[in-house]
Amino acid sequence: MAGASAEVVARVTKAVLSSRKYASTAPATVDLLVALEAPNHKSAKALEKAVRKHLHNIMAPYLGDPDYAQAGLDLTAAFEKGQDAANTLLLEYLSTHESTKERIAIMEQFYQDIFAITGVPNIVLDLACALNPLAFPWMGLGPDTTFYSYDIHTERIDFLNTYFALQGIPQAAKLQDLALEIPTEHGDMALLLKELPRFERNYNKKGWQLLDALDVDWLVISFPTISLHGGRSLVTHYRNYFSEKAAERGWDYTELMYPSEMVFVAKKS
Ligand SMILES: C[S@@+](CC[C@H](N)C(=O)[O-])C[C@H]1O[C@@H](n2cnc3c(N)ncnc32)[C@H](O)[C@@H]1O
Repeated sequence: MAGASAEVVARVTKAVLSSRKYASTAPATVDLLVALEAPNHKSAKALEKAVRKHLHNIMAPYLGDPDYAQAGLDLTAAFEKGQDAANTLLLEYLSTHESTKERIAIMEQFYQDIFAITGVPNIVLDLACALNPLAFPWMGLGPDTTFYSYDIHTERIDFLNTYFALQGIPQAAKLQDLALEIPTEHGDMALLLKELPRFERNYNKKGWQLLDALDVDWLVISFPTISLHGGRSLVTHYRNYFSEKAAERGWDYTELMYPSEMVFVAKKS
């Protein structure tokens, strides 16, 4: 089947990027998805539908987002009152995304357990971060930490940099599509939390390529323990999956288990 013409590709790219739902998506990501779907869809309507479906899987819009412009103002005012007032708001924002909401109850213990294995890092790469960097005050990291954070949502990245500035750490959030551009920053540790299976599925198995290429000493990779739809236990599945991948690479690792999340802390170098 002949795919979409260059004119249709351009039209659909423009339509997606000016839609209300996806206007905040990194343009490079939309270009990539349109290019991926274009060979299979001739009409603009079919192509746009396919791209939106793909974007829905990638961006997980069902999670919801705060109103970032308002959140920036509110957080600035809260920091003027002090860290406690700021933390109250940060918890509110962390609750707007399922993965960070689930982690709130355990997040202090979560990072304590990880750093007990790795030592406290100075440079962290949080891959496909969503709102997780807002948990910084509960991580036990030092004030000289650089917390590189990568996502494909423009407003979210801008908001994270606003937060980092208020928190007094470098504005290290980056609008970067990790399927297109692997981070070159050196890190003591990279986090890829609750995203690897989706990343593998959505980007034609590029997740492990990404992990293999990173210049970091430690990798912290987590998986849900229970399936989102249906409540099935995923523990054995992901335990076997990770163990096989780590063995192929000769990595030593430790498993940490929490009610909603299982974590593998692997020594890369
Ligand atoms: C399930 S959420 C991850 C949540 C976060 N890691 C946590 O555990 O709190 C998936 C995130 O990955 C981001 N994402 C998807 N594809 C990406 C890509 N190619 N590059 C960077 N970020 C991506 C999405 O925008 C979304 O914020």
